[in-house]
Amino acid sequence: MFAVHLMAFYFAKLKEDQIKKVDRFLYHMRLSDDTLFDIMARFQTEMEKGLAKDTNPTASVKMLPTFVRAIPDGSENGEFLSLDLGGSKFRVLKVQVAKEGKRQVQMESQFYPMPNEIIRGNGTELFEYLADCLADFMKTKNLKHKKLPLGLTFSFPCKQTKLEEGILLSWTKKFKVRGVQDIDVVSHLTKAIKKHKDIDVDILALVNDTVGTMMTCAYDDPSCEVGVIIGTGTNACYMEDMSNIDLVEGDEGRMCINTEWGAFGDDEALEDIRTEFDRELDLGSLNPGKQLFEKMISGLYLGELVRLILLKMAKTGLLFGGKKSSALHTKGKIETRHVAAMEKYKEGLANTREILTDLGLEPSDADCIAVQHVCTIVSFRSANLCAAALAAILTRLRENKKLARLRTTVGVDGTLYKTHPQYPKRLHKVVRKLVPNCDVRFLLSESGSTKGAAMVTAVASRMQAQRKQINRVLALFQLTREQLVDVQGKMRAELEYGLKRKTHSVATVKMLPTYVCGLPDGTEKGKFLALDLGGTNFRVLLVRIRSGRRSVRMYNKIFAIPLEIMQGTGEELFDHIVQCIADFLDYMGLKGAPLSLGFTFSFPCRQTSIDKGTLIRWTKGFKATDCEGEDMVDMLREAIKRRNEFDLDVVALVNDTVGTMMTCAYEDPNCEIGLIAGKWSKLPIDLNPFSYHAVFCNTLVPSQRYPSFPNRYEKMTSGMYLGEIVRQILIDLTKQGLLFRGKISERLRTRDIFETKFLSQIESDRLALLQVRRILQQLGLDSTCEDSIVVKEVCGAVSQRAAQLCGAGLAAIMEKRREDQGLEHLKITVGVDGTLYKLHPHFSRILQETVKELAPQCDVTFLLSEDGSGKGAALITAVAKRLQQLQKEN
Ligand code: BG6
Ligand code: BG6
Ligand code: GLC
Repeated sequence: MFAVHLMAFYFAKLKEDQIKKVDRFLYHMRLSDDTLFDIMARFQTEMEKGLAKDTNPTASVKMLPTFVRAIPDGSENGEFLSLDLGGSKFRVLKVQVAKEGKRQVQMESQFYPMPNEIIRGNGTELFEYLADCLADFMKTKNLKHKKLPLGLTFSFPCKQTKLEEGILLSWTKKFKVRGVQDIDVVSHLTKAIKKHKDIDVDILALVNDTVGTMMTCAYDDPSCEVGVIIGTGTNACYMEDMSNIDLVEGDEGRMCINTEWGAFGDDEALEDIRTEFDRELDLGSLNPGKQLFEKMISGLYLGELVRLILLKMAKTGLLFGGKKSSALHTKGKIETRHVAAMEKYKEGLANTREILTDLGLEPSDADCIAVQHVCTIVSFRSANLCAAALAAILTRLRENKKLARLRTTVGVDGTLYKTHPQYPKRLHKVVRKLVPNCDVRFLLSESGSTKGAAMVTAVASRMQAQRKQINRVLALFQLTREQLVDVQGKMRAELEYGLKRKTHSVATVKMLPTYVCGLPDGTEKGKFLALDLGGTNFRVLLVRIRSGRRSVRMYNKIFAIPLEIMQGTGEELFDHIVQCIADFLDYMGLKGAPLSLGFTFSFPCRQTSIDKGTLIRWTKGFKATDCEGEDMVDMLREAIKRRNEFDLDVVALVNDTVGTMMTCAYEDPNCEIGLIAGKWSKLPIDLNPFSYHAVFCNTLVPSQRYPSFPNRYEKMTSGMYLGEIVRQILIDLTKQGLLFRGKISERLRTRDIFETKFLSQIESDRLALLQVRRILQQLGLDSTCEDSIVVKEVCGAVSQRAAQLCGAGLAAIMEKRREDQGLEHLKITVGVDGTLYKLHPHFSRILQETVKELAPQCDVTFLLSEDGSGKGAALITAVAKRLQQLQKEN
């Protein structure tokens, strides 16, 4: 009995001595609570640094956006393939998510070796090997006939700008494959897979193992919002608020961030806690100076750390009586599985003896106790460090949610966590100590990252299908070169019909003579009054032309035309116009002065002389009664007479295109065409010297899906209608469930909510998505970020088609001019005006490109009319006056 007590006493004393000895030796590896709180705070700062745009480039913890925006909601389904590369084992899998409506996941998998030649070889060999394994798997599982989407679990730091992309930032752990860093892994693997003609696989998602783990666990526990790997490497991801992620546009909802915490300390932030063993291990690693936090924590390194410590202790005579073995000198001879075995509760000591003996050592009892304690200190430090970083993430989550207490689940995976006997318990305990205000559930991911990767792929696959639907709609607006040539040809034919007496009545392009027959010759002079009705604004102008100088002085005033006047009687409309003239003349101090007047009237009119024009039909929201079929000049003259206040001579009725052409021709005598691409306007084009303008034309464009827009050229090209087309498409897409969560809001049902200015703003390249969202919000459309992207694309497709069609029409006119004059090459200037042309970010460029493409023999200059049509109308009036004078004299 006494002997037993004596033995126990001896053993306890021995243990205490050994533990003290090791504790003293590894003093630096034992981290106090204060140090852990400090590390936790440092990691919080690192996270901030990685998330912010300015500091991200130099941050060591990269906080990579993953483009995974939500945890599984149970609606995921389908059959997927998966590759799982980067952990201790490489696997190919088939995953069936939710069969027959049941929330369950079935997986079939096969491990494939990952030979050293591949891990240290070149990129092409790696990708070909992966593709070969995939093809082999599909063959064995009889899947070759199927087209399946694939999710790639790739457990390395990758920069992503979308889910199906991953630019490798650097290899970590055991991998060092040449020529892969900085390239997109997905596209290279896709290329390798394409070489296998017998399989058809589409990679839809690349996910880090932490993300896969989080998603796997979240499928079973929706409160899971963190994923942690403590395996060959270590890392964590969590759901971050979009508003905190500078690197991705949008502020709505959350996105999973892959922290890549393994690199914590790569900027020397942890130098005070790193020991000589950490430094030595790092120097002998594949990536010196990199992944310094990981090298203190993960499975790939713990065994080696223990070996380096034991070697040093042996060298200094603290172990094995100062003896070493060649195995103890050999890198990699102690692995983490050995550390785990040595720390086992009951068999630990026996395991330690066996392992040390296998290393060619002759350990005493004391040695075994000491070595076991070394292992404990090393693995305890690992758990402590992990806990500190995890505690920082949990605190961030709690603060993001503005909660006093956070209840959450952390999904965990990795061989160290799974197989080390004490690891999970220690980790959980320290985390709870560091964040007492978080109730954390740790959930072990039983089925690896792949199940989660399949969830991500399922969502991606649904989105891909939706994208195809959206593209199908947008494709209706994309015109091929052939279609544009066809439009040009049809426009050309219509121009001829419109000009010929025989066909004029049936022609859709009316080719209306304007009776503007001469250009200013520079001798015109005097003061002229001009009206400009039919654009965004109604103006009254006084234009002073100075002879010989080719310059004019203009004074103008904008007046409103209230809706009740636009839609009242014709008399009321013209009385209002005359009232505006009276106000203007008053303002200018010219009441009663005899003036000639040019009337810019931008509506389709049939003219029989320069001062006679019958309104064919109101457009642009004007509906005044008793005007259609009437002579507009007569109506104006009568209103002037009714007022009986001024001495005005209405000399010319001018369409805005003609005015624009004249305005520009005054500066550039080559200007023979006037074009308006405005808020309302069609493509009215003038030909000088015959001066015709085109109004409506039908049947120019291939089949239309949006029935509320019969084949009207104007309605496909002008600003106001473009907005309306956009609205129709948005309604259509919403009906198909592709936008606005499938809900057509009251606002979206409202006609004309999209004005040209909104189209121009939405399409501006300088605008961030957030601003697009704001514009849509102003319009009463509550859009997500994805919605905003789609709306922008819709606007782009519609305005591009408009510009191209306008260009095709213009090209037809140019070519006609060129051929009529029998010229090989035509040098010509087009005078242009209108808000669409002036303000839209792409319209003018696309229009010009189209013209160049379709009329290559015409050398076209586009001259923007800075002064509007009013100036041109005054010039026309001046010329008409000069000609009248001449006639009189003759
Ligand atoms: C597995 C994942 O479950 O965990 C792997 O599917 C991952 O992709 C791994 O890398 C981490 O563990 P280990 O220990 O194999 O590196
Ligand atoms: C102006 C003209 O400059 O351009 C108007 O003076 C014309 O008469 C207008 O109708 C076209 O632009 P918008 O975009 O205002 O219709
Ligand atoms: C390494 C990788 C990281 C991965 C982790 C766990 O740290 O860089 O991407 O998540 O190992 O496998």
